[in-house]
This record gives sequence, C-alpha cells and structure tokens, in this order.
Amino acid sequence: MKTLITEDQLRAGIRSFAEKIQQHYQGRPLTLVGVMVGSIMLLADLIRFLDLPMRIEIVQARTQPHGLRSGPLVLNGDVLASSILNRHVLVVDDIFDTGRTLWDLIPQIDDLGPISVRIAVLLQKEGRREVPLKPDFTAFTIPNEFVVGYGLDYCDKYRNLPYIAALEPQEMEEAEGKSAAP
Ligand code: IMP
Ligand code: MG
Repeated sequence: MKTLITEDQLRAGIRSFAEKIQQHYQGRPLTLVGVMVGSIMLLADLIRFLDLPMRIEIVQARTQPHGLRSGPLVLNGDVLASSILNRHVLVVDDIFDTGRTLWDLIPQIDDLGPISVRIAVLLQKEGRREVPLKPDFTAFTIPNEFVVGYGLDYCDKYRNLPYIAALEPQEMEEAEGKSAAP
C-alpha cells in the first residue's frame, strides 16, 4: 500500500476546501447531500468546518461487486424533497472517477426544485471523466489508482485509515479473498 495523501495533508486540504465552500455560500442556508457511504468522513468534517445554517441529507449509492464503482442510487425522495426545494444544495461525494454516479444523481436533485446545485468531492481521478460534468469544489486531484482510506473502502476494508492510500493489485486480491469468507 502506498500513501498518496498523509493525514496532515488531508486535514490541511480539507480545511482549505471547506474555506472555499464557506466563501462561496457567504452565510446562505445550505443543504448538504452526502453520497453514502464513502463520503461519510468528508461529510462529518464539512459539518465541523462550515459555519453556515445547514441541513444534512444523504443518498445511498450501492457499490457493485468488488467495490470498483457505484451501482444504482437509492434516494429517499420524500425526505429529500423538502430539504431541496428552494434551497442551495451541495452534493458531497468521496471521489469523482468516471463521473457517472453524479451524472445520474444531479438530474434527480434538479427535479426537486433547488435554487442551485453544486458538487464537492474529496478526490478527482485524473483522465477518467466520461461525462460532461465537473465538480465545483475538489480537495485533491489524484492519479488513476484505486484508493482507500478516510471513508473509502475496498471489499469492506480500509475505510478506517486516517490517510489516503493506493492499493497494489495483490492487496486487492487479498481483500477480495477475505471478504468472500463468512
Ligand atoms: P464514478 O461514478 O465512476 O465517478 O465512481 C464514483 C464512485 O465509485 C465513488 O463514489 C466510489 O464509491 C467508487 N470509486 C471509484 N473509484 C474508487 C477508488 O479508487 N476507491 C474507492 N472507491 C472508488
Ligand atoms: Mg461513492
């Protein structure tokens, strides 16, 4: 495993990322929509660092087998609707890889009548984007490697790491083997 972003770098990067978001919204009420589960740590840090009136909602993206990318999104439309109508919305996700997860999600949020919708991601992978959509706020840009830590997992492992690391192919095989055991 190779550390890409140390704990100190992560903390400093997220602080300045939160400051940019804070400046952008200028005290206006905001709804944060966290894409679970990978964004759970980032969502918690944004809640700590943003000094704004905030409402918190979540949507769930089910990961496909082996965790390489997200599957279909699960939205609780009734709950989301009242937190999105006539409000500024910031969608918070762990990583923008191909962008397909957010490409599916954003129109569903738009349908609920927000004043604005913006996207904040912890990580964006270089050279992987497949859709005409870009995050508005990105804390770190990383090379095209499979990363774990700070909420991101592989086969249920490594979510707890306080830093971001890239997995070697052999470590991915090991994690797959372990998750198959009962
Ligand atoms: P996208 O739809 O291709 O942008 O994929 C986004 C989702 O796939 C992320 O929100 C993650 O859940 C998952 N994902 C993509 N790359 C990685 C990675 O390197 N580590 C962990 N999860 C990833
Ligand atoms: Mg995700």
